[in-house]
Amino acid sequence: MSTPPFLAAGQIWSAHDYAANAGFVPALGADVLALLAPQKGEDILDLGCGDGVLTARLLQSGANITGLEPDPDLSAAAIRAGITVLQQDAHDPFGINVYDAVFSNAALHWMRTPQTVVKNVHTALRPGGRFVAEQGGFGNVAAIVTAMNAALEAAGFPATSPWDFPSPSLQKQRLKHAGFEVTSIALIPRPTPLPTGISGWLRTFAGPFIGSLSLEMQANILSDAERRMAALHDPIEGWIADYVRLRFCARKPG
Ligand code: BEZ
Repeated sequence: MSTPPFLAAGQIWSAHDYAANAGFVPALGADVLALLAPQKGEDILDLGCGDGVLTARLLQSGANITGLEPDPDLSAAAIRAGITVLQQDAHDPFGINVYDAVFSNAALHWMRTPQTVVKNVHTALRPGGRFVAEQGGFGNVAAIVTAMNAALEAAGFPATSPWDFPSPSLQKQRLKHAGFEVTSIALIPRPTPLPTGISGWLRTFAGPFIGSLSLEMQANILSDAERRMAALHDPIEGWIADYVRLRFCARKPG
């Protein structure tokens, strides 16, 4: 079966694992929520709402919130959190002139054809609507990606690049090409302590690198990669991932 374009090949989502190993993602969403500044009565789409933990905070504004999430397990968790969910791929259209704002946190870097998704967001917004998002940006988890690829290549497998981490210039170009005016865009380094260490993070997110290999080979590559990531380990603070966020606000003219 082929992989839907939304998903990096090999990534398997589990709401339970995500909460345990990456629960800091919604917890660190306060700044991008502040940039969105949702207003009572607005129609807002949360693109890639995941398990709905951050989306549920949007509900408190009194805005009408819809989540978009293709993964069945994450969608089910978001529905349990009280979110109305469009279970679909963001590469497929999701409306014409229907939202006052489209919001996204930690989802856009999974998109395999970002320009298609940005265009779909533009189409879904009402004239004057805003697209406010935070995602992995240029240099995000570079030490992790480099170590995984070095371990893969040392074992005779090709390196891979499963995520889209654009620079501000590249993302601005995509947004303008789709018809947006970009009102702010910035890269924000955010070294992030990992509550379950690098092994927990890799359990949740290393699938796109090693998902097609035997379990024995996966274990060998992970152990070699962890050794190559030693610079991310602090003797006191533990494992800290080299996260870099790209945060932006863009407006559909009108
Ligand atoms: C991120 O939020 O930056 C991220 C999450 C999973 C894999 C890669 C990046």
